[in-house]
Amino acid sequence: MVKMISIHSSRGGTGKSLICSNISAILASMGRNIALLDFDFRAPSLLTIFQARNTVKKWVNDYLDGKAKLRDVMVDLTDRYKTGGRFLVGFANVEMDAMREIARKDRKWQMRALKRVMAMKEELAKLFEVDVIILDTSPGVQYSSVNAVVSSDVSVIVSSMDILDLEGAQRVVQDLYEPFEKKTFILVNKATPHMFMGEDNKSTLIDNVRRRFTQPVIAIIPCYCDILLAQRVTLFALDKPEHPFTWALTEVAKRLEA
Ligand SMILES: Nc1ncnc2c1ncn2[C@@H]1O[C@H](COP(=O)(O)OP(=O)(O)OP(=O)(O)O)[C@@H](O)[C@H]1O
Ligand SMILES: [Mg+2]
Repeated sequence: MVKMISIHSSRGGTGKSLICSNISAILASMGRNIALLDFDFRAPSLLTIFQARNTVKKWVNDYLDGKAKLRDVMVDLTDRYKTGGRFLVGFANVEMDAMREIARKDRKWQMRALKRVMAMKEELAKLFEVDVIILDTSPGVQYSSVNAVVSSDVSVIVSSMDILDLEGAQRVVQDLYEPFEKKTFILVNKATPHMFMGEDNKSTLIDNVRRRFTQPVIAIIPCYCDILLAQRVTLFALDKPEHPFTWALTEVAKRLEA
């Protein structure tokens, strides 16, 4: 059975793209066949993260528009990262016009796109024997993100400890995830290191997150300077398998695919 997982947030910059790309790499290294797709059409980042400009034939935008097949969209990065499982990535178009165009699409187009998102599971399984599909989404309730969340089997909402992020995440969970009865996990990212110092601080941190959500908290990950220093163009988890960030995401990845 293919599993589709969407990684979403209420506000921007919480770490979705970093988490998506690293979880995908971790699962592919564990031997799973992975398809990671950029569904953040307003501000795509996977093309930069994977430095893949010259390898792209068609964009995810073209697939949703009915103008391309998934076999021409997915770029195979298995050899580059030497993962045991297939590591396929679908990129969103970074051209300004493409970003504007998708923002202008009406409800009718979005409904057709939703059908294509739903069909992706079967198609990717048939074409590439994919085990897990991961969707990196735009923050908030853009149509494309709603389509991704609605079509997935599991959703992860990523929030920082910023009150605006936490309250935004609570609202998205109530207004979008709960009506659709989505299996949802909360992932807190970029918690400041002092929040983890001492048992009292740690339990305050955990209580502060848990009391806001009825959904399970899958991880609380600190903000690591090493990640900022490593630059975003590397796959941190593959470069640093012994780093606590990699351990945390490995546990998250295992739980998500289970
Ligand atoms: N735990 C962390 N420690 C340190 N830096 C982090 C951590 N998580 C994410 N970052 C950094 O925060 C920045 C934003 O991350 P990222 O682009 O993944 O967020 P995003 O949620 O995808 O943003 P957007 O909503 O704009 O798409 C990046 O520079 C990333 O490397
Ligand atoms: Mg992003």
